[in-house]
Amino acid sequence: MKRVAVISLLAMIATPVAAEELSDRLAASRAAIQEFAQSLQGELQAAMQAGGPPQAIQVCSERAPEIADSISQKHGLAISRTSLKIRNPANSPDAWEREVLESFDARRAAGENPAHIEKQAVYIRGDQKEYRFMKAIPTGEVCLNCHGAQVAPPVEGALKRLYPDDAARGYNVGDLRGAFVVRKAMD
Ligand code: HEC
Repeated sequence: MKRVAVISLLAMIATPVAAEELSDRLAASRAAIQEFAQSLQGELQAAMQAGGPPQAIQVCSERAPEIADSISQKHGLAISRTSLKIRNPANSPDAWEREVLESFDARRAAGENPAHIEKQAVYIRGDQKEYRFMKAIPTGEVCLNCHGAQVAPPVEGALKRLYPDDAARGYNVGDLRGAFVVRKAMD
């Protein structure tokens, strides 16, 4: 059984949360993330084959948020992606997510397999309680086309146009590109 962090911004409140309830939420979060990742990867690969990275940029910029929305609705939760180095400012991490991303980087540096790095927590702010889950996203070879130190000139041009403040560059295979985030309000 994984350790569960119970976090409160205002006060440390010992909140009893049934372990069973958390394991259900964990399973649902993992399933939603798997569906999101598979769907995104499928569309990315198809676009890469059809028109190379310049065409595939559209999948990432337009389809990624759409797929996230439809999977969120289907599973009754909120799924998104975030990172310590952001391309789209809409994906910026909040303070808790930033802390988790930093801990993921440290876990990877300590030798943990990035494919298995994840964390769940019950996040409490005032009288609102939220289930949160994050899963690391490792950088693969294909990602370097748009997130590596060097990208092809047409990609460079398109990224500059769409994302003038792009910081999501300079990655190597095996680095953590970011994480999936699942959130769901709890009663
Ligand atoms: C064809 C170019 C392209 C490729 C290839 C690509 N990405 Fe991206 N990526 C983008 C774009 C464009 C965005 C911004 C999406 C948006 O506007 O929400 C992005 C955003 C992201 C984000 C959200 C955080 C942020 O920086 O805004 C993550 C995480 C991410 N990519 C991971 C990956 C991973 C992992 C791979 C390889 C499996 C990959 N990307 C391959 C273009 C690409």
